[in-house]
Amino acid sequence: MTAVRLEKQGDVALAIVDNPPVNALSQAVRQGILDCIGAATADSAVKAIVLACEGRSFIAGADIKEFGKPPQPPFLPDVLGALEASGKPVVAAIHGTALGGGFEVALACHARVADARAKIGLPEVKLGLIPGAGGTQRLPRLAGVAFAIDVASSGRMVGMKEALAAGVIDKIADGDLRASAVEYARTLVGKPPRRTRDLIIPQHDHAAVEAQIKEIRKKARGAEAPVIAAQTVMDATHKNFDQGLADERKTFMHLLGTDQSKAMRYVFFAEREVLKTPHLEGVAPRPISRVGVIGSGTMGAGITISLVNSGMPVTVVEMAQEALDRGHARMKSTWERDAKLGRISAAQVDQRLSLLTMTTDFNALADCDLVIEAVFEEMAIKKDIFTRLGKVAKPGAVLASNTSYLDINAIGAFSGRPADVIGMHFFSPANIMRLVEIIEGAKSAKDAVATGVAVGKRMGKLPVVMGVCDGFVGNRILAAWRPVADMAVEDGAMPHEIDAAMEKWGMAMGGFAVGDLAGLDIGMRRRREFAHLRDPEKRDSGAVADAICALGRYGQKTGAGYYKYVDGKREVDPIVTDIINKVSADKGIARRPIAGEKVMEQIHATMVNEAAHILSEGIVSRPLDVDMVLLNGYGFPAWRGGPLHEADRIGLDKVLATMREVHKSAGKGYEPAPLLEKMVAQGKKFADLKPGDAQKM
Ligand code: 3HC
Repeated sequence: MTAVRLEKQGDVALAIVDNPPVNALSQAVRQGILDCIGAATADSAVKAIVLACEGRSFIAGADIKEFGKPPQPPFLPDVLGALEASGKPVVAAIHGTALGGGFEVALACHARVADARAKIGLPEVKLGLIPGAGGTQRLPRLAGVAFAIDVASSGRMVGMKEALAAGVIDKIADGDLRASAVEYARTLVGKPPRRTRDLIIPQHDHAAVEAQIKEIRKKARGAEAPVIAAQTVMDATHKNFDQGLADERKTFMHLLGTDQSKAMRYVFFAEREVLKTPHLEGVAPRPISRVGVIGSGTMGAGITISLVNSGMPVTVVEMAQEALDRGHARMKSTWERDAKLGRISAAQVDQRLSLLTMTTDFNALADCDLVIEAVFEEMAIKKDIFTRLGKVAKPGAVLASNTSYLDINAIGAFSGRPADVIGMHFFSPANIMRLVEIIEGAKSAKDAVATGVAVGKRMGKLPVVMGVCDGFVGNRILAAWRPVADMAVEDGAMPHEIDAAMEKWGMAMGGFAVGDLAGLDIGMRRRREFAHLRDPEKRDSGAVADAICALGRYGQKTGAGYYKYVDGKREVDPIVTDIINKVSADKGIARRPIAGEKVMEQIHATMVNEAAHILSEGIVSRPLDVDMVLLNGYGFPAWRGGPLHEADRIGLDKVLATMREVHKSAGKGYEPAPLLEKMVAQGKKFADLKPGDAQKM
């Protein structure tokens, strides 16, 4: 198969890229484009050229698999230089996604005709990179500085309406794309080619662009590429095209070698690999045409919105009509807000509402192929629901619980058909958060688990399969590190210092601020409920939280928690400082200075340590499963790749040394994990572990 072939339609040559699955710009494609442009230019019968693609998409970018290997000529900027220099008009025919290097190919063409559903974008920043073939230099010439900065720094995909308005696209195809592009190309014959490199950059509002870059820096949370992308676009305003292009390439090549880019490329492949759970390979999911959701509170409504958005009809069951009405109103207002923001049309709001069946009749779940329970987190309630589900649900229906820590094996037993029971742990707000933990019980059938994965994927989520343990992967790791932060507060650090260090490190939010957001009463109730199970030999770290809760300070919802909230703004509260000093004094702790950065280091080591236990127990089989959970549900920075990728970067010996420090101050329960010790002794990294290796070590 040739990666790029040349066809002719009368006096127009079509260079057609055919490199499945997404027409990435491998060496063969770069060479093919160069050769086809050369051949078409040399052919006197050819008056214009159309560059189009086979398959599901226009070129989706450079071949990421080639990154890290020695680059092979021809290099993309040179190919695009030749394409742009062509004396015959070259028109890009865009369908699917024109991303990264693919969009840069289109920018170097003399015009762009696109399918109405196509999308363009420069997602390089999501790989810790900036465009490396003229994207930052050509886009501002076509669409202005502000637009180019936005697109290059956010990595977002842009739809055709917006692209047309910005001047990036010349025409949206009416009917057949290739025919439309050929026709458009013919209109350009005889005119001087409009070369993007020669266009004058439109004037921009300096103050507005400065503010835009400031905001990008803030949002980047330590990621380098978005800011560098913006600065490189700015270069276009004062460097000539060739200089700007050469400097952009230099920066791109430099970024390829950085830890941030390596981490983000690891994430790119891990996000895809995580869906291919080894022991489910070849297992077909059960067919799903209707889903039932029990509960329409915050979680139930969020899950339902997500299901309906993916086109699935949903039966929502509540105990009382009032709760049902509230749930319906919640969902309706979410869709109406989406319509107001232009994300969906008014007709789509109606269409979504029509997919909802709201009822108080539990028996209505009888025709659902999957039922997701999303009610209060209490075993007695789950017992009642799953006992009833076992009787009402149709044979073969998958029964899922959205529990965040309860035992799926016990829940399976209540139903009387444990093979059909799985956990589907969504994160709040469930219509936004990407992670869903798919819990495989000891008796769950493989195709029931595969169904959970398939539905999660269809909902646009990232499903990660794991076994049963308290808190599953995410909350178990949180439950391990959170007390380390609490103990540091008792020993000498302040919550705001730890939060600041966590955010500086790249976490989406500090742990204490998250506590205030989620509500401190949840933890307080759990501590009370399980007080009798507490191991007296383990250091208790709940005193500060209890003292704060005792004042009715349950977090943001009560206007105060670890912080006070003034006009919605989080502020350090001297009352909390006093509480902390008193707790330390009562415990006989002589407070000492502890840097927030040190605590963050210990938090990370504890995450890794707990993950090592999780891997050894076979709760998940691959380090990447843990990384994907922390990245997509717990605000871990993508540019660090996840706690285990980051641990490999730092060096496991260093992580182990930090864990020994944690053990010294936190005591029982914080011993370094045997797996971590063995890996250090054997000089292994998490990246070396194949599925299941950890259990054998
Ligand atoms: N290089 C190599 N492989 C790629 C690839 C790329 N650019 N893009 C996708 N693939 C592979 C995926 O790894 C996957 O492989 P698998 O089937 O073996 O797991 C397969 O193609 C299909 O990809 P998806 O599962 O992601 O398919 P979707 O249909 O869900 O999404 C997509 C398609 C929107 C194109 C998505 O794959 C995507 O976002 N790709 C990355 C795009 C990108 O980042 N481009 C910029 C690259 S950097 C660059 O261009 C530098 C330049 O400026 C010089």
